[in-house]
Amino acid sequence: MKPKVFIAYPITKNVEDFIAEHCEIHKWQGNGRVPTDILLEEIAEVEGLYTSGSMTGPINEELLTHAPQLKVVSNVSVGYNNFDVAAMKQHNVIGTNTPNVLNETVADLAFGLLLAAARRIPELDRFVKEGNWQPTTDYVDLYGKDVHGTTLGIIGMGRIGEAIAKRAKFGFDMNILYHNRNRNHEAEEKYDAEYCDLDAILMKSDYVLLMTPLTKETFHLIGEREFKLMKETSIFINVSRGQTVDEQALIQALENKEIYGAGLDVFETEPVESDNPLLKFPNVVTVPHIGSATAQTEEAMAMRAAENLVAVLTGKEPIDPVVASRK
Ligand code: DGY
Repeated sequence: MKPKVFIAYPITKNVEDFIAEHCEIHKWQGNGRVPTDILLEEIAEVEGLYTSGSMTGPINEELLTHAPQLKVVSNVSVGYNNFDVAAMKQHNVIGTNTPNVLNETVADLAFGLLLAAARRIPELDRFVKEGNWQPTTDYVDLYGKDVHGTTLGIIGMGRIGEAIAKRAKFGFDMNILYHNRNRNHEAEEKYDAEYCDLDAILMKSDYVLLMTPLTKETFHLIGEREFKLMKETSIFINVSRGQTVDEQALIQALENKEIYGAGLDVFETEPVESDNPLLKFPNVVTVPHIGSATAQTEEAMAMRAAENLVAVLTGKEPIDPVVASRK
C-alpha cells in the first residue's frame, strides 16, 4: 500500500505525477491557506505533509498530536520558521526544505527591490501614468540615489546573500560589508566582502539588506535602536521574514526620516493588512513575498520538495533534512 500524503501547496501535474508514483495523494483544492478543520482531518490520516508556512501555519505540538502517522513535513521553501523543531523531534517527524534552487531568483528580486527603491521606480511609474509629467516638471524632484559604487551591507551571508553580493560586486561595483553568524571566507575572497559587526554595517552602509533566516535570535533583529544607527540617506531592504524587523520601529524611522526608504518583500503579518501604514509611504517599495516566485524556480522548488517527501516515505535519506528524526 502506498503511503498517504496531504498536498497543501499548489503543484503542477508533473510534480503531482512524480509524487503519485510513490504515494496516495490527498490534495487541498481550495485557494490560500488550508482551513484548520480540514487540515486536522487530513493530517490524522497521512504519513507525509507537503506544504509551506503560508499554507498550513506552524508545525507545532498542537498539530502534531493530531498526526499519529506523520513521518515527514516537506516545505516548499528554504525558510522553515514554521517548524517547531523541538516538537517535531519529539514526535519523530522529519522536516525538509528547498535550499539552493532559489538562490539566484531571490537575489534577482532583492536587487530589483534595491534598484526600485533607490531610483524610485514604482513611484515615478505612477507619476508618469497619472499624467504628471509636464514640460514644467522639475527633474530635481525626480532624483533618486546612485547604486553603483556605493556600500551594500548584507545581514545574512548565506547562499542567497552571496548571490546578492555577486550582483553587487560585479554588476554595480559596490563595496560589500556583511554580517553573519559565522565568517564566510569564500564570500570575502570572491566579492571582497568585509566582515563587520551589526552596528558597523548599519552605520556605514548606503543599502542595508536583511537576508537572515527567522530564528529566536533574529526575531526583531532590526528595531528602533538599529534604525537610528543607519544613515539618513540609507535604504533598508528586507527579503528575509517580516518578523526579523520590528515593523512599528520601521514605520517610526520612515516617519522621522531616519532612513531614506525601504524595499520590502515580507511583512510581520502576511498578507499585509490594507491599513498597514507602510503602504502609505511613496518611498517604500512593496511586493507580496515573491522572492522565489518565478515559474521555473517554483517548479524546481516543488520538485525538490517532492523528492524530499518521497525519499523519506520510501525509506531513504531526504536531500535537504533540516529536522532529523530521533529514530
Ligand atoms: C523561502 O523560500 O523561504 C523564501 O521566502 C522565498 O521567497
